[in-house]
Amino acid sequence: MAGEIRKSQLEILERKNAEALLGGGHDRVEAQHAKGKLTARERLHLLLDEDSFEEIGKFVMHRSKDFGLDKQYYLGDGVVTGYGTINGRLVYVYSQDFTVLGGSLSETHAEKIVKIMELAMKNGAPLIGLNDSGGARIQEGVVSLGGYADIFYRNTLASGVIPQISAIMGPCAGGAVYSPAITDFVMMVENTSYMFVTGPNVVKTVTHETVTSEELGGASTHSTKSGVTHFSCANEVECINYIKKLLSYIPQNCEDLPPALPYEPAADKNREKLNTIVPENPNQPYDMREVIDGIIDTDSFFEVHKNFGENIVVGFARLGGRSIGIVGNQPAVLAGVLDINASTKAARFVRFCDSFNIPLLVLEDVPGFLPGTDQEWRGIIINGAKLLYAFCEATVPRITVITRKAYGGAYDVMNSKHIGADMNYAWPTAEIAVMGAQGAAEIIFKREIAAADNPGAKLAEKVQEYKDKFATPYRAAHRGFIDEVILPSETRTKLIKAFKMLENKVVKLPRKKHGNIPL
Ligand code: HXC
Repeated sequence: MAGEIRKSQLEILERKNAEALLGGGHDRVEAQHAKGKLTARERLHLLLDEDSFEEIGKFVMHRSKDFGLDKQYYLGDGVVTGYGTINGRLVYVYSQDFTVLGGSLSETHAEKIVKIMELAMKNGAPLIGLNDSGGARIQEGVVSLGGYADIFYRNTLASGVIPQISAIMGPCAGGAVYSPAITDFVMMVENTSYMFVTGPNVVKTVTHETVTSEELGGASTHSTKSGVTHFSCANEVECINYIKKLLSYIPQNCEDLPPALPYEPAADKNREKLNTIVPENPNQPYDMREVIDGIIDTDSFFEVHKNFGENIVVGFARLGGRSIGIVGNQPAVLAGVLDINASTKAARFVRFCDSFNIPLLVLEDVPGFLPGTDQEWRGIIINGAKLLYAFCEATVPRITVITRKAYGGAYDVMNSKHIGADMNYAWPTAEIAVMGAQGAAEIIFKREIAAADNPGAKLAEKVQEYKDKFATPYRAAHRGFIDEVILPSETRTKLIKAFKMLENKVVKLPRKKHGNIPL
């Protein structure tokens, strides 16, 4: 008799398990595939190590009865949640199922997400959200709005405690965008995902603009214009691979260290090319990515925010097998000047690295801040201050290498010794001064030049005089603001040693509730 009961119990369980796996049913799964999208479970299958996924809340159902919901119950309620491993490391995941009521977020859908967020925080492991949802479940009204707020609140509490990654793989509209926005990294899939606070129809009504979803909030828009997304991915598989790669550079939580790879000294060869990267003419551009390549472990650079604020380059790399975060001015774009986008992009990256114990390397070639009414009126003062603030409060090991220009306030901001950098190197090509020689000579020798028989020759003479005195690293080195002037080709070796020397760095900041970064 007992055996018969067990059999019927087993059948119920098997039936329910099979039902949960169906999501919104065969037709809706086909519709999802027809859009070039994978299902929630297919995505998790690609993301997690084989057989590592353990689902939580598979049989959860909503509690609503209004507007026909009493006839539409789906096990799991439109989101698959649980934990698993990526390259053997624990992660918590949620994956919204668009085939179930458009992946819309109900009270119970939100409760499932909150449950794994809390587990992730308590157990110190990254949270990954795969978003594909029509937003708040319209039939439920305020309880679904409350559900979103419950998630936002925990996103905020988890910020700086565990890494949080959001992949947008379908619609993400209205207030729903604010959960990804609070997380550390946002990935979007080209042509099948979009994010906006109000969609094209509302935009048309309010501002009379005609715009497509893709133009308004597609991956290309957010990776180039707004900077909302850090990674624009060609398809879902690439997106999932980016998540895995990103995780390989970062630790599990704020108490942990990033994973280190075995160090291969043979890779130290062929760094000579660095000696010829900086052109003789100081106004000629070069690509800071080539400098990065010449310093780091081969092919280890993983660029973040590649197409946004391109006058600064940020990303993760490995140096002697260890994870570092790199911030480099990019002389190949706008001469590497600091503007609003570059400052906010770099500030957020610096703060991420500092939150998660990732040492910072700054490669500096900056002519200053971008002048003009556009920048001033949009607040270059407050936005440039964000980068300054981010460096000032960072307590991770911090090293700067000045490759060429370090002018004006930008010299101070770009991880100078004065704001807490640990080691500052300069190449012999470095120019460290208040401003460029031409501008400087025109101001300080104005009268002398005007009174000269040949003002042009006088100006050239004074420009040269200023250059000889200041357009070198030696004034700064005499004062100890630069610790050592090094050959480009020895940069890698110097950095490996210096970061090792700084491995046990401890800095205690003044006790406070929290700082007030200029927002
Ligand atoms: C309930 C929803 C839903 C929602 C979609 N569905 N969104 N059900 N609540 N929010 C259902 C549809 O009724 C449909 O059910 C199924 O999901 C698939 O939707 P389709 O419209 O057929 O798909 P598609 O053509 O691909 O269009 C997707 C869409 C569209 C663009 C997302 O569904 C849409 O505009 N939905 C509403 C979006 C919205 O306004 N959400 C509220 C945003 S405000 P059937 O049974 O017909 O297949 C918000 C506030 C959050 O989210 C605030 C936080 C503070």
